[in-house]
Amino acid sequence: MANITKNIGLSLGADLCWPACYEEIVKRLDLNIPSGEDAIKFHVERVSVEPFNLRQPVRYDIVLDRLTHWFHTSREWIKKAVVMDGLYVLNNPWSLQSMEKHTTYSAMMALGMPIPDTWMVPPREVSPDNPDIYPTLERYGRKFELAEIGEKLGYPLFMKPYDGGAWVGVTKINNTQQLLKAYEQSGRRVMHLQRAVDPFDLFVRAIGIGPQVHIVRYDPDAPLHDRYKVDFFFVDGEEWSVLQDTCLTINAFFGWEFNSCESLRKEGTFYPIDFANACPDFQVTSLHFHFPELVKNMVRWSLFCAATGRKKALNLDWAPFFEIAKKDLPYRERLAGYAKIARERMEHDRFQEFVAKHLSHLDEVTWEFFGTDMAKGFVRQKVAALFPAHEVEMFTDHFFGLIQFWRKCEADRMNSAKEQAAAAAAEVVTTPEAVSTPEVVTTPEAVSTPEVTTPEPAKAEPAVAAEKAPAAEVAAPEPEPAAFAPVKPAAPPKGGKGKKVKN
Ligand SMILES: Nc1ncnc2c1ncn2[C@@H]1O[C@H](COP(=O)(O)OP(=O)(O)O)[C@@H](O)[C@H]1O
Ligand SMILES: [Mg+2]
Repeated sequence: MANITKNIGLSLGADLCWPACYEEIVKRLDLNIPSGEDAIKFHVERVSVEPFNLRQPVRYDIVLDRLTHWFHTSREWIKKAVVMDGLYVLNNPWSLQSMEKHTTYSAMMALGMPIPDTWMVPPREVSPDNPDIYPTLERYGRKFELAEIGEKLGYPLFMKPYDGGAWVGVTKINNTQQLLKAYEQSGRRVMHLQRAVDPFDLFVRAIGIGPQVHIVRYDPDAPLHDRYKVDFFFVDGEEWSVLQDTCLTINAFFGWEFNSCESLRKEGTFYPIDFANACPDFQVTSLHFHFPELVKNMVRWSLFCAATGRKKALNLDWAPFFEIAKKDLPYRERLAGYAKIARERMEHDRFQEFVAKHLSHLDEVTWEFFGTDMAKGFVRQKVAALFPAHEVEMFTDHFFGLIQFWRKCEADRMNSAKEQAAAAAAEVVTTPEAVSTPEVVTTPEAVSTPEVTTPEPAKAEPAVAAEKAPAAEVAAPEPEPAAFAPVKPAAPPKGGKGKKVKN
């Protein structure tokens, strides 16, 4: 029996906590997965940034990437490694590079998703760098009444960059004057105007990792550390299923295996508003309670991909989705059809089997690990990178406290699963069909309940404003609605986007 080592590369930027937890959990799993005559082991290491020969082979089987959308050296290394060396990477770097919000809205509208009405408008200013811009606009630029578009869409609406992320340049607009003013200030950015889902009664984020979808209630108005809510039963079974199917459809369509889909519920319908987030927030300082579950989902999916040698789909193959879109079926049925394709493409059933067979101890291992001083130390490192020194202990306790609350819930869940399994086994042995020698079954009483102390999560307000204000209201009204056409820039170009997470 030979050992085969599968190498997992972590291509990281500011990420601190999740990679450390991921590495430790994979180590503690101590896997030896049988594969024919051999046994598969895993080695995790961090990918360095350095010059590379395009013909130089890559030593990883899978890379979990957090840089592609803004650090081009890493993105181009990944692209060459996929093409030349058959590397498996989360996420597809080409679709991440080319599918901005705009394409994702258009494509999902084509599939019938209830995306709010959206217009694109030409930029208020253009760059003079290419002199062709002037004859182009003189010949073909049509003057337009922005106010008329605003009236057509209806207020409130949102103006936001067609390729945006991290809430940059997003403005909530309540009337024509605010619209005109926001457009005047939009500079060279190409903007969408989107009808607001207003009022909405629920905001959710569905975070997909492979075929697994984790749904969280979200409060966009809360301080940064408190936006992902600790809440249960905020959707019913059918809503949960719609959100799952929506997220899987989007992710399979674009070849994304780690993405976050934002939807707002109004009058019982979920409207997806932002789902081109294929490098979603993975910080313990945002996700807290939800963090261990997402680390676990990443461990499961990445080990499955590495161990099975799953091949990266090299094209997106949209035709089967559009075939379903053409059918004269209610939207819910079409969505189920899209999600079926998604589950097939993500090997949902084979994945479940793999997890049941080889990763059945992951829950316990993760539960144990998140109770350790080491885990707390990883949380502290992330907190120390974001918060001022005098808040580090308080926020470490706050986030770690929420993780302990997760451990309490997780212990209850695991115990109840064991009880159910024991009850089912007991039922089997008492049925007349059962063989005469009863199996020894673990009684519920014998199932050990892990000891957890559940500290009250500290309530804390950060002194740092770690993120831009959400969807700022536009202030002073402007007097006259006007006709617009793109004009020359008044100011020199600004620097690059430099966004670190997509949502
Ligand atoms: N159509 C909309 N209806 C209601 N709220 C919206 C809408 N579009 C954006 N928002 C609000 O603005 C925030 C940022 O917009 P979003 O489209 O998510 O941009 P980004 O990609 O920058 O995160 C959202 O989280 C939400 O709070
Ligand atoms: Mg967003």
